[in-house]
Formats: sequence, C-alpha cells, structure tokens
Amino acid sequence: MAKALKKQGRPLSFDEIAKIIGKDVGAVAKAALWLKNKGLIEVEEKEKKIFKLGEEGKIYSEKGLPERRLIDELEKAGGMLKLEDLRNKLGAKEFNIAISWARRKGWVTIEKSPEGVFVKLLNKPQEIPEEKVLNLLKEGEKKLEEIPEELRDACLSLATRPNVVEAEVEKIHLMKPTEKLLKLDDSILEEREVTRLTQSLIASGEWRKVKFSKFDIYAPTPPVFASKRHPLRELIKIIKEIFVEMGFEEIRGPLVELAFWNFDALFQPQDHPAREMHDTFYLAEPERGDLPSHLVKPVKEVHENGGDTGSIGWRYKWSEEEARKLILRTHTTATTIRYLADHREPPVKVFSVDRIYRNERIDWKHLAEFHQIEGIVMGENVSFRDLLGLIKEFYAKLGLKNVRFRPSYFPYTEPSAEAVAYLEDKKTWLELIGMGIFRPEVTRPLGVKHRVLAWGGGLERLALALYDLDDIRVFYGNDLNWIRRMPSTLLKRRIGLI
Ligand code: PHE
Repeated sequence: MAKALKKQGRPLSFDEIAKIIGKDVGAVAKAALWLKNKGLIEVEEKEKKIFKLGEEGKIYSEKGLPERRLIDELEKAGGMLKLEDLRNKLGAKEFNIAISWARRKGWVTIEKSPEGVFVKLLNKPQEIPEEKVLNLLKEGEKKLEEIPEELRDACLSLATRPNVVEAEVEKIHLMKPTEKLLKLDDSILEEREVTRLTQSLIASGEWRKVKFSKFDIYAPTPPVFASKRHPLRELIKIIKEIFVEMGFEEIRGPLVELAFWNFDALFQPQDHPAREMHDTFYLAEPERGDLPSHLVKPVKEVHENGGDTGSIGWRYKWSEEEARKLILRTHTTATTIRYLADHREPPVKVFSVDRIYRNERIDWKHLAEFHQIEGIVMGENVSFRDLLGLIKEFYAKLGLKNVRFRPSYFPYTEPSAEAVAYLEDKKTWLELIGMGIFRPEVTRPLGVKHRVLAWGGGLERLALALYDLDDIRVFYGNDLNWIRRMPSTLLKRRIGLI
C-alpha cells in the first residue's frame, strides 16, 4: 500500500487504493492506521455530497417544474390570467410553489384591478437551469463534481425544496503520502513483512529473510461488552451478602398482600392516611382475600381497645372487610410481620431486599415501584442499643461510616428512630432507614413474647448516593449505553470492598 501511494504520489481514497492493491477496504483502513502511526501518511476525512431526485423531483422531471408550467399557461393565455384561474389550472399546491419562485425570479407580477387579481408575465425565461439539473439527475444520482459548474447553484437551490432533490453526505477518507514516505528508500518498502510465523516460513527457511511486524497494542479495537449485573442488582447482591455475613437469613413474601398484613397487623388504624387510594394501589380483581382466622379476633381487639396489652387501642370499630382488601404491598414490613406470625420463638434474624409499590408521581427521586431493605431480630435479651449498633454496622459495611440517629414515629414501633448518613462529597445528610422495637400491640396478638427489633428503608436513594447519580429513573430506563459504560467493579471499589 505504501508503495502504491508513493508511486502515485498523490492522495488516494480508501476505495481507490483498495482497488489498486486488491484488498478490501477494512484491510486498507487497518493498514492506513499503521502507516499513520509511523508518520508515513496523513489521513484526511472529506465529505462528498451526492444528489438525487426526491419523490417530488421525479414528478417534476416528467411534468416540468411548477414555475415552468405557470409560465407556459400564462403564455398560452397571452401573457395574463386571473389568479383564480391559474390556481385551478395548476392545482393549489403547485400554484403556490410556482408563483413564489416565478415572482422571486422576476418573471411575473401580481396586479390588482377592479376586475380581480391577475398574474402577468413580465419576461419569459429562455432557460431555467433547474430544469437542466432535473434532466441530469433523471439519469441517476450525481456527485457535486459531476454536475457542471454553472448548474451547481441551481442544484443546491433544488436541494432546499422539500422532496425535490435530496442531498446525501458520504464520508471519504483520503490518504496523503507524507514527505517521509516520499523520501523513503524503495528497498525498505520491498521488504516483506509478515504478521504470522507459518509452517511454510519455517520449512523453507524464508523466516530468516522476512521482517516480522510489531504489534501495535494501542491500535483501537471494537469495544467488547461483557455481560454483567445491572447496577441496581449489583447493589442488591452486595446488601444481601452483608446481611448473610452478619448472620441473617433471607425471606421473601408476596407482592400482592392483604391489607391485614400490610397495615392491620402492624397496628396501623384503618383511617390512617397511608391506606388511602392516593398512596396505596388496591386490586380491582380479586378485591379481597382470606384472613388468617386465628388472628382476626386478637388484632380486632387490639385496634378497638388494646386487648390485653395494657393499651387502650385506637378506639374505633375495626372492619374485617377493610382488612381483607388486596393491595400491592407498600412496604416489606408486611413480609417480616407475616414471617414473625409463623416464627414466634427466638431467635429470629431475617432480612429482605425486595420490591414494593406506592402511588407516587414519578420524578427524579420518586418511583411507583421500588425496593426496600428490611429486617427483624427477635431475641430474649435484645435492646434498642443493639438495633442502633446493628444498623450502624450494616451501613458501615456499605461504606457509610458517619451514621446518626434521630427520633421518629411509626404506628408499629416504640421507641422509633431514623438513621441518616453524612455524605462527605455532597455535604448533605441522606435518610437511610426507619426503625424501632415492635409495640406490644403488634407482637402480642401474634403470640410473640420477646422483643423484636425492626427496620426498613429505601434502596434506590441509597443507590443514587453510592453511584453518585442524581436521577432515580436511570435505574429503570433500560439505557444500554449507561449500563454498558458502568464499570462492574465501581460500587465495590467505592464501598471499599475491593
Ligand atoms: N416500614 C417503614 C417504611 O416503609 C420502615 C420501618 C420498618 C420502620 C420497620 C420501623 C420498623 O418507611
């Protein structure tokens, strides 16, 4: 290739040289890169315009340009026609196009008189260069250079008219031999360079004479996208591993849940605002499910009068029908309380990282479908301090070392708190999780005698902070480019796991 370039002594396109040396364009491009790196050629990118007739242009090339037909009609009529008549002859669309061009070129004028509006021929063009262009393009597409110079303006002007002439841009790469190449001794170019040591090279002894080409380890290669976990799933996996490391077992529960488990069993009164439609998704079909019959009475009593807990309850009439409603669970606490009802003896140490649903307006920090991190610990001697320590340790393992607690409120815990973490780089506090000790009004109806530490909070906002992003929707956008570009080890590195 270098030899061919040197011999020709002028810039050649990839296509041209491919023809000369009998190789495909891909091989030429590769070789060009090599020569460029050696300073033997310069590669210049040029744009070439190709013109061809559009749909409208094909019609014009048969019937004539609208402005030509307008002139013809005027001539036939003796140089003047009523605007209305002319429009009827040409059709409204073509007339509009024709009159605007004919006036712009000074061929016609519009005159108003008491008899009406008239179009008058001022001077008849002999030749319209646009017509010649149409004729030329009728033969097939043409490159700009193939169009006679005096017609190029007309061609460009036609290209501005919708669907008349279409211009396509083709990129071509020109290789220019540099001084270095031109001065290079021909014998060097004669030298045979091989990229692979073959059996025949060895057998013939030819290998002694050939030159082995060096590998260019900086040559660009096509990007390879290895499969990997979605960034959110990567975080979920890390969280699950942390829980397991801390001695927890994973539990899962249904996405379609009874209001009973989501709210009632958690001592959330039936008129609580969170239960309303604008916060919670209710199922239309089936509308209701069956309650765990042995728990109906104790839960009803605890809501109405506190049962045997010493509490006075919420003091209203508890409705079984309301509790039987089916919803999409609004928190994973529905799942932990379900589990607790079946596991009443200590020790219990379980977690879940799972999907929940809320009737939210979607924006940069809200989704209607997201995940919560949740867990409970039940033991004979567990305390609120244990809970704080556990949460602190959990988030420290996620790289959040500066965690603080502040008092909070949930209908099902007492005391209740909320954990926040300080984000050094953003200089802000991030809300992590709600927590507390389940109230007797929650545990007693289930027959649980020991203290239960409970916590739950969002996953996605934590993910935003850990990935340093500012819009929660990117996790669900299925933007392959984003997913591909996200290094699979980024999170582990940030958290300090690797
Ligand atoms: N369920 C609460 C929420 O969705 C979090 C929580 C869980 C609070 C367990 C206390 C105990 O925000």
